[in-house]
Amino acid sequence: MNETFKLERTSAPLAAEESGESMRHVHRPVPHDSGAKHVQGIAQYIDDIREPDGTLHIAIGQSPKARGRIVSLDLAIVRSQPGVVAVLTASDIPGKNDVSPSFGDDPLFAHAEVSFLGQALFAVVATTRDAARRAVRHAVVEIAEEAPSITVEDALPRDETVLPDYAFGRGDAEAAITQATYRLAGKFRVGGQEHFYLEGQVALAVPGEDGDIHVYSSTQHPTEVQHVVARVLDLPDAYVVCETRRMGGGFGGKESQATQWAVTAALAARVTGRACKLRLDRDDDFVLTGKRHDFRCDWQVGFDDEGRIEGYAVDLLARCGYSADLSGGVVDRAMFHADNAYWMPAARIASKRLKTNTVSNTAFRGFGGPQGMLAIEHVMDQIAWAMGRDPLDVRYANFYAPGRNFTPFGMEVEETDTLVDLVRRLEETSAYRARREEIAVFNASSPILKRGIALTPVKFGISFTLTHLNQAGALVHVYQDGSVHLNHGGTEMGQGLHIKVAQVVAEEFGITMERVRITATSTAKVPNTSPTAASSGSDLNGMAARIAAGAIKRRMAAYAASLYGVAEDEIEFRDDRVFVGNESLSFTELAKKCVLGRVPLSEAGHYQTPKITWNRETATGRPFFYFAYGAACSEVIVDTLTGENRLLRADILHDVGRSLNPAIDIGQIEGGFVQGMGWLTTEELVFASDGRLLTHAPSTYKIPVASDVPADFRVALYPNSNREETVYRSKAVGEPPLMLANSVFCALCDAVHSVDPAKPVPLDAPATPEAILRACEALRGRSMG
Ligand code: MTE
Ligand code: MOS
Repeated sequence: MNETFKLERTSAPLAAEESGESMRHVHRPVPHDSGAKHVQGIAQYIDDIREPDGTLHIAIGQSPKARGRIVSLDLAIVRSQPGVVAVLTASDIPGKNDVSPSFGDDPLFAHAEVSFLGQALFAVVATTRDAARRAVRHAVVEIAEEAPSITVEDALPRDETVLPDYAFGRGDAEAAITQATYRLAGKFRVGGQEHFYLEGQVALAVPGEDGDIHVYSSTQHPTEVQHVVARVLDLPDAYVVCETRRMGGGFGGKESQATQWAVTAALAARVTGRACKLRLDRDDDFVLTGKRHDFRCDWQVGFDDEGRIEGYAVDLLARCGYSADLSGGVVDRAMFHADNAYWMPAARIASKRLKTNTVSNTAFRGFGGPQGMLAIEHVMDQIAWAMGRDPLDVRYANFYAPGRNFTPFGMEVEETDTLVDLVRRLEETSAYRARREEIAVFNASSPILKRGIALTPVKFGISFTLTHLNQAGALVHVYQDGSVHLNHGGTEMGQGLHIKVAQVVAEEFGITMERVRITATSTAKVPNTSPTAASSGSDLNGMAARIAAGAIKRRMAAYAASLYGVAEDEIEFRDDRVFVGNESLSFTELAKKCVLGRVPLSEAGHYQTPKITWNRETATGRPFFYFAYGAACSEVIVDTLTGENRLLRADILHDVGRSLNPAIDIGQIEGGFVQGMGWLTTEELVFASDGRLLTHAPSTYKIPVASDVPADFRVALYPNSNREETVYRSKAVGEPPLMLANSVFCALCDAVHSVDPAKPVPLDAPATPEAILRACEALRGRSMG
């Protein structure tokens, strides 16, 4: 780790302790606490927990039809299969048959009607996983089938939605578009995405006394699992504990949709009195869990001679699946990012949450933001193609700037200088202009292979747009031997949250990292938590833990001051010791003295994000505490006779404020970028017209692999400091880098554009090789039928 991380410029006055030099743990590239365990295969996931004696295993019986009335469900043969201990249906539920996050529209087991192909109808509990999986196939199900809605086009004329339409904007966008010098309009499709976490959905439920239940769940939201287990089993929340040590990836797919499997395991444990485990088979995981929402974006834009937007109108038509799940927030976030980094003097941002007979779509890294942003990047390209200008110049012409700095939802963009400076630097370090010329020369003499380049920005709002979720709790104990037990409400899914929070605590106490023991997230230690999502894990939990540790430290300092007869401000915690004037004692010695002196060494910290307000009804306020910025420049090469392509080089400059941990942050940037590239290039979800998911395994659904990472991959952190008072002036990093991959999509369009520079590129996302070939053929005036 080198120069890249040196602070060159601070944009806000920093407290002396935050200026950097004295920091022992934060701002340093500390390795992930589980890194060594991950690569040795000894990090414990739920399926690695030693099973209690007599643990039973669960398989899910699925609906064979996408939409219809359940006429009969005959499970007699299922019950008589070898190893079957219990078969659970809606009638076994003591409480509510509802595992939804808020709207009451996700049954644990379908009853009366089915809403998508694969929907859970019942569960088999058996002595082995294999026995359970064999038994489910013997169900006799009769469904009075109705014509399903599978696509946005099916759902639109039926006008079926999971939640009401919503819109906001500024001025009269339609009038501005009509009066503009130039106008363009189109429909742009953005595909969905399967999470493909390496560890699939899994839960283990262990029954205790008096109806107590302990659930180990691979979830981003232990509190919701606790709450919904209690709801379904008709128990008080206090009888249920949900524990999560780590996930093998979540990516949003375990924000609300880990719940159903944990609840099924808990119900089975209640009914059988034994420990019960549910681990979805990969194919079932594909079919039974929601994905990134795919959208059709119907857009219109009016602009001037410079390519500057005068008015923008977009209808974001989201395929939500059969229920609301998190579609309220996801589609709102698509709307909040429909501007990306661009000033729109007049804008109308509208949305429809369409109900389809497909699995209920859910959170996925970026939470709708990527879809809204890709649409406006596509529009930037359209403007550039229409005017024959470099797309980067069109982007520059539209960036937020002083005096042109209010979003379509009325929030001021305070940090306008960061993005423009960041993009200018990347333009230079990536040698964008020189390479653009080189590529033009190459393409002029290469009829089949075409290269393309694009540089696109990211501006991403940080905070939950549901204001009350912006809070967190932490629990810190200092023991008499000076070791520290750290617990907080955030969950670890590989993103490095636990190590970041541990760094913050070690920094606060001035002790070594070795003293700080990271422990599993548990609803019994920190209650009423928010999901680990919206990239806010370290912002929220880092602050809560710092508050808790700070309170203990102050009590220890006060006690030391009284013991040695000095003022409290003469006590200093550093280098694993406590300095009292010229003398010092070890942290352990002071901890021991505090215990003997009856000083409490445990504290629960709580943090609430300041400044944010959002009134959805009036569409006013400040939904985000701040914005995270970034930009990427991607260069691709395309074989225009096959559509095959490769990313040759990617340059990224990304703003994480003052990084809490540059090694982790660079990992997040690289991983997010590659995941976004997969979404936009090779990952394609195909549903047949009867609602069957045809791409339900790695054989038919292609995620990026190591060989897709560009050979030339240059990632740097923008030297910045959060102007807001976040934990050590850092910025959130989890989701924003995914949208850096928009540059890959735009670079592919740029390459295809060179087939016929007079025409716009007819390419939707994902730009799979087939889609690219089709676009090339269309530009050549040939149809592929
Ligand atoms: N990184 C890894 N390795 N695995 C994950 O599942 N999830 C992403 C991101 N980075 C994820 C990840 C998503 S969707 C979010 S919201 C954030 O991490 C959540 O963690 P944070 O808030 O601590 O950044
Ligand atoms: Mo992330 S999509 O907010 O879990």
